[in-house]
Amino acid sequence: MESHAYDLILRGGTVIDGTGAARYAADVGIRGERIAAVGDLAGERAASTVDVAGKIVAPGFIDTHTHDDCACLTAPDMIPKISQGVTTVVVGNCGLSVAPIRFPQSVPEPFNLLGQPKDFVFDRFADYADAVDAAQPRVNVAALVGHSTLRAACVRDLSRKANAVELTTMRAYVAEAMAAGAHGLSSGVFYPPAAAADIEELVAVAREVSAAGGVYATHIRDEYDGVIEALREAFATAAQAALPLVVSHHKCAGVHNWGRSVQTLALLEETARRQPVGLDCYPYTAGSSVLEPDLADGEIDILINSSKPHPECAGRYLREISESWGVSQREAAERLVPGSACYFQIHEDDMRRILQHPLSMVGSDGLPNDPNPHPRLWGTFPRVLGKYAREQGLFTLETAVHKMTGLSAARFGLTGRGRVAVDHAADLTIFDADTILDRATFEQPRQTAAGIEHVYVNGRLAWRGGEPAGTRSGRFLRRGLA
Ligand code: ZN
Ligand code: CU
Repeated sequence: MESHAYDLILRGGTVIDGTGAARYAADVGIRGERIAAVGDLAGERAASTVDVAGKIVAPGFIDTHTHDDCACLTAPDMIPKISQGVTTVVVGNCGLSVAPIRFPQSVPEPFNLLGQPKDFVFDRFADYADAVDAAQPRVNVAALVGHSTLRAACVRDLSRKANAVELTTMRAYVAEAMAAGAHGLSSGVFYPPAAAADIEELVAVAREVSAAGGVYATHIRDEYDGVIEALREAFATAAQAALPLVVSHHKCAGVHNWGRSVQTLALLEETARRQPVGLDCYPYTAGSSVLEPDLADGEIDILINSSKPHPECAGRYLREISESWGVSQREAAERLVPGSACYFQIHEDDMRRILQHPLSMVGSDGLPNDPNPHPRLWGTFPRVLGKYAREQGLFTLETAVHKMTGLSAARFGLTGRGRVAVDHAADLTIFDADTILDRATFEQPRQTAAGIEHVYVNGRLAWRGGEPAGTRSGRFLRRGLA
């Protein structure tokens, strides 16, 4: 038997390394799960060689904002993500994690964004981590523990803040999650289960995360008129607990807040000078979540994704439904709940300004459990690369890749990932810069992207030529371990 210096060499490609640096021509040699060499490997031999001439070799994309907590167990092929070149998903966002809680009867909103009662079976975060490893998803999973989940598990009455005893229990759960390898804490004080939590409660819980070296990601209390005050609350929480902050899916929602991203980004920049702050965003002007009649203001378009009492209304606009019923949009929404919807609440200029900002990372916020999901679930990453970098020139391709790899790994503490560099994990996405583009639409959301050629996860082929290939080689990423 012949021995080779490398298991695999990707020959003749153009490397965009994830740091934001300019592209360069190089071969990439892989040994086991790691990148072993980047450079001219013309004289080197490998067990297998793939010709990637004319293609970009980039670090696998990191989806910083997902609700794939259950999807990575129940649909471990993770087609919506691997098909975009995503090799790691951050789960547990917006205060919602599947562990540690059980909902044996029915899953209340907004936890139902994640899954069904059969999915909520983890008493300890470590059990969830083990389940991810056992399921062997096609992408890696980095997890946050959700503050709303902790409240639902520990706080007797969700209409008030946690009392001292409950807080102690919540902190014990956080410590267990961090010991099991969680990357941090998320909160969603916008949503009813956590709305009664004040900054004191958030800081107390976040301190436990800070002690273990994790991050704090938050769906802030108000993304509408009160966006500035809500950002200030997030800054203060992170500062008092002494940990890095990620503002989730940053937006200025609602017609009369359009244009205010000039203000919010200036505030974020100013704050970033004294404490670590980042943000994630998706490249669409519509948000998506549970159907919330309060948001039916008659000004923004609302697309109904699903409705339990009126399943026939899925795929129709609330405006049209309300007209045919002869009621206000709010009244129509009240008749349609529980359900899910897309809210066209963001101005394109704000979205572009936020996406372009140096503090921003890309995160899909895709909802895999939605029967009729927002297209961001399948399209986010190729859309940033194809529509916003190539077609519109909003930023260079190098910057776009940085926002979905190196920057994201640094912010979330994903050690040894997010770069094409020696000794880094061989999570790699090979794409065609001329053709990469999203194909998912609001009408037809379940569509793979164009231009993703090969994807490798932990050194193993995971996607090729528009289809899953090789083995599922993702795993639960434990904080601090490469
Ligand atoms: Zn959210
Ligand atoms: Cu989210």
